[in-house]
Parts: sequence; C-alpha cells; structure tokens
Amino acid sequence: MAPGTHADVLVIGGGVIGLAVAWRAAQRGLRRIVVVDPHPGGGAARVAAGMLAPVTELQYGEEPLLRLGMASNERYAAFAAELTEASGGEDTGYRRCGTIAVALDSDDREELRELHAFHGRLGLDSHWLTGREARRLEPMLAPGVRGGLHVTDDHQVDGRRLLTALLRAGEAAGVAGHRAEAVELLVEGDRAVGARLSTGETVTADRTVLAAGPHSHLLPGLPAGVLPAIRPVKGQILRLRVPAPYRPFLSRNVRAVVRGRHLYLVPREDGELVIGATSEEQGYDTTVTAGGVYELLRDAHELVPGITELPLVETSAGLRPGSPDNAPLIGPTALPGLVAATGHYRNGVLLTPVTADLVAEYLATGTMPELAGPFSPTRFTTKVPA
Ligand code: GLY
Repeated sequence: MAPGTHADVLVIGGGVIGLAVAWRAAQRGLRRIVVVDPHPGGGAARVAAGMLAPVTELQYGEEPLLRLGMASNERYAAFAAELTEASGGEDTGYRRCGTIAVALDSDDREELRELHAFHGRLGLDSHWLTGREARRLEPMLAPGVRGGLHVTDDHQVDGRRLLTALLRAGEAAGVAGHRAEAVELLVEGDRAVGARLSTGETVTADRTVLAAGPHSHLLPGLPAGVLPAIRPVKGQILRLRVPAPYRPFLSRNVRAVVRGRHLYLVPREDGELVIGATSEEQGYDTTVTAGGVYELLRDAHELVPGITELPLVETSAGLRPGSPDNAPLIGPTALPGLVAATGHYRNGVLLTPVTADLVAEYLATGTMPELAGPFSPTRFTTKVPA
C-alpha cells in the first residue's frame, strides 16, 4: 500500500487507537487516509490483557473517565461485530464474561467494601459476594478468599485479534498503511501540515492525528507546550495455556489487590489465560525481568493456586502511555491541523471505540462531541504556538 504524498488525514501511530481512528474516519467518508508506523498493529494493545473494566478499575476522583469508559464499554459489542464484518470475518475475542474482584485479607476486603460503596453512590451495577459466593462462581479461587465484588458489565477483548481486525478493516476501507517512522512534524506558519518520514518521504496532510502513545510528545518539530510529556508505564504480563480438559479454568475476569499490587487474570475462550500486570515507571524499557515474572506468579498463585499446573507460554512487557492526569488527550490541540489521540494509560483497549468515534466525528464535522470535553488536549497547553 503506497501512500500518496498528500493525505486528507495522516495518522501517526498504528496501534489500536491510530488504526481505529483511521478506520472510523474512512467510514465517515474521509478519503486519502494514511497511517504511518514502522510496526503497524503493535503497541501496548499487543501486550495488554484486554480487560474492559471501567467499573472495577475505577479510581476515586476519576468520574469523567468513568463516563468515557462506560460509553466505550456500551459501544463494544456493536463495535466488535461491525469490525468482524468489515475485516472479512476476523474475530476480536470480545467476550461478555463479567468480572469479579476479590480480597485475600481483611485490609483488601475493606478496600473493596469502600469501592462497592463508591459504586453504589454512582449507581453502578456491583454486587457484594461473600468468600463462599465468590468460590461458587469461580471454584479455582483459593479457599482463603475473603469476599469480593461481582460486576457483570466488565468484559474482555483480545488486543491482538483486535489489532488484526483493525488492520484488515482499515485496508478494506481504503486506509493506506506505510511502514515508516514519522521523524518530524511539518509545521507551516501556525499549522501542522504533515510529517517527514524515516524513508525520506514527506506526507503532507490537511489534518494530522498524533496517536503515538508514550512517544507522542517526542516527535521532532512539535512546538513546545502543545503536548505534555506522555510517560511510559511498563507492564509485564504472562500468558498461560489452559489445556482443554481443564476448561473452563476460570469463567470470568478475576481481579485482586495482593499486598497493594493490582493483579488480574483474564481467561480467553480459546484457553489462553493472561496474568497481569506489573506497573513500573522506569523509562522506555520493555525488558521482562525475573523479578516481574516472580511477582506475578507468586501473587497469582496465592489467588488461584492451580495456575502452577498450567504451561507458561509467553512473557512480555509493554508501555502504557500515561498523561500527567492519567486521562487521555482526545481532540484538536492548540496547534491548528494537529489532533491528539493519546495518553490512554491503563485504558487504551477499553477506550478504543469511543476515541475513534469522537475523533472521526471531529475530522468529519469539525465539532468535538461534548463527551470529549474533559479530555481536550488543550488542558495541558502551556504556550500557544506563535
Ligand atoms: N488496564 C490494565 C493495566 O493497565 O494493567
């Protein structure tokens, strides 16, 4: 797929957000859409467990993010079905399985009780479980589980399958992919007008969408003050395989806080069991460490002792893109012609449908829907470009 030298929309970053924006923009009738990325279909979603958990991952003080997450979660079933159709039958692994969040000791249980009360105040569907009820739902849980929450609307999708489907759907809709790195944002006067690529080519564009995760703010040529630093937050994660005779090993996502660390197990329909994830702030390093793997296995074993019987098939690490307030940047920036779709931190896979819809709406109409208000990139603008 060779790009032309001029695009209506240039998307920098072929991860789950950039690909979804490009596909949705094509569906909205925009033509000449080019996605540049040296490794399209990569990024954090290739590593992520793909939990769609706006309720169980809720943090205090993040109600606007909850609204965005709920809006995206509600769109997921239709988004996944449409994507399967548009990609010629690629299954995204979307699974309406629900989630339980459980406690192993009384401190964890108190934390979950607080979360349950918070859910109640916000009118969210969340049911308290005794330890026995939790084990009845998930018999592989450790006998010591002290209770927890059942959230029937927090589901899962397979990030890798989602990426494949987005690549195919984009291709079918006429999106041009270009395996190259954007090495400079081109700015003329007060406007972004495209990018220079690692191949030496330039792609000029009416609108440029920056969806490069934790690399977004590092793009040379980006005027100072337009984007804040998007910090990389490393997550190490494990993939185990549940042999057919042991299925279902778990029937839904299982979360816990073990000695203050968040742990989750995401069982896929095809037998993959994903265990994640560490949270480490140490730059752009994706080394899998013995300590990271040990920590995950130790905590997961405490929660679900039977995991030690399962084959460990993969260890990997990815970088969550964290903005200064941990909420995404979605929409036009202070630099005309430049739109941001980045900084999704722990929620990139969850927020893919809503981000793509919001950005495509803006690209097609010039208007940003109200839902995106709290996530305007300009909340961080420190200097309006001259
Ligand atoms: N959303 C899960 C994680 O960031 O680890």
